[in-house]
Amino acid sequence: MTNSTSWNPSLYLQFEDHRLRPALDLLNRLPLQHAEAVCDLGCGAGNVMPFLARRWPQARILGIDNSAEMLQRARREYPRFDFQEHDAAEWRAQTPADVIFSNAALHWLTDHRQLFPRLLKQLKPGGCLAVQMPANFNAASHTLIRAVLDDLRLWNEELRRALNSVGILDAADYYDILAPRTGSLDIWQTEYVQALDGEDPVFNWVRASALRPVFNCLAPVQFSAFIDEYKRRLSDVYPRRDDGSVLFPFKRLFIVGRI
Ligand SMILES: C[S@@+](CC[C@H](N)C(=O)[O-])C[C@H]1O[C@@H](n2cnc3c(N)ncnc32)[C@H](O)[C@@H]1O
Repeated sequence: MTNSTSWNPSLYLQFEDHRLRPALDLLNRLPLQHAEAVCDLGCGAGNVMPFLARRWPQARILGIDNSAEMLQRARREYPRFDFQEHDAAEWRAQTPADVIFSNAALHWLTDHRQLFPRLLKQLKPGGCLAVQMPANFNAASHTLIRAVLDDLRLWNEELRRALNSVGILDAADYYDILAPRTGSLDIWQTEYVQALDGEDPVFNWVRASALRPVFNCLAPVQFSAFIDEYKRRLSDVYPRRDDGSVLFPFKRLFIVGRI
């Protein structure tokens, strides 16, 4: 099952440096020297793809995403790469891939116990699956979403379904799923202590990603009431530092499995 709703590429790319860094950290841990077929699964606006191309200059780099808005931006910015509009949950490689790379995308898909083994099956022998996903679902930026929805009594069925379908398993679960199916496996977590600038920076960060289901499932007047209260509580939890920045710690889970 997937959660398919529209994305706003400009909003998402507002914190491009912070969002790109984990993708590069993931890429740096990939052991493959040579690759011919590289897939960026959930490629979004395509901004990680030039780094994949720099690492494997001979490879065909294919971006898969199910957001027409993201793909439109990606095709415009990076015409030299190939793109396909596809639901990652159902995607099958036309020819086996050397690398399936996925940055900040697979937490939008459910059923990881089926999804991850299926992705491994899309690889050539010796190929790599490399995944980064947020692991901050217990952070205040997320728990406050539910708390404000509770307190303002804004829940509806569609919203409950949408929010409940986003998430990840524990690191140990991924180990148990992948270890029997891989020759080498590297799993780690990192917390980035992100210093954000600008007005309501944590809100603006979350608005482009985790808040999308709330935006999509509430009436405008409800969403506006939600925002006022959510922003107020965020500013208590994430205060401005003396230099004007707001610290937004963000934990991420990384997986590199080679078959
Ligand atoms: C947070 S963005 C990350 C984009 C890109 N990987 C990056 O690092 O900049 C998440 C992307 O996953 C895509 N996505 C979410 N669910 C998907 C699905 N079921 N199939 C394909 N793409 C999906 C979204 O459309 C979005 O472009």
